[in-house]
Amino acid sequence: MYSVGIITASDKGSKGERVDKSGDVIREIVEASGYKVNRYVVVPDEIEVLKKELIYMSDELKLNLIVTTGGTGFSKRDVTPEATKEIIEREVPGISEAIRAYSLTITKRAMLSRGISGIRGNTLIVNLPGSPKAVRESLEYIITELEHGIKILIGEDSECAR
Ligand code: MTE
Repeated sequence: MYSVGIITASDKGSKGERVDKSGDVIREIVEASGYKVNRYVVVPDEIEVLKKELIYMSDELKLNLIVTTGGTGFSKRDVTPEATKEIIEREVPGISEAIRAYSLTITKRAMLSRGISGIRGNTLIVNLPGSPKAVRESLEYIITELEHGIKILIGEDSECAR
């Protein structure tokens, strides 16, 4: 069973001023796909806090997958892609391209999410937008293909059967 970390980036959520529904949607979708959520945090939109949590989940907990939600838009406080970019070793543009391509068939505002995806060590990291609706639309679309990538990343699989 592959392990997952969930990071909700939200100033209001971290102060208890907003209930985090998006983290719950991530949990529901990954658990339905057979993953286990090992850690879930709500943090403020602070680049250093985000980087520290991403590094902790990757290097110390050695989680297979980290899914973030929030902080991908244009607000001055939106820094999740910047934090992610600073700590990944290799970018995985295709996952974020797929999220935006599919999301654009639902709302043209999907072009406003700056989320990225990448790899640090044996951990795959994916940024999702902040709203529960956007999380569901994005994650349900990509989740089926993530396991194959994780398997190749950790050396359990070496080739693509299709
Ligand atoms: N993607 C999907 N699939 N569905 C959505 O409703 N909303 C967009 C976009 N991506 C949306 C979406 C909107 S309105 C914004 S502003 C950006 O995500 C950034 O969201 P964030 O700042 O909450 O991360």
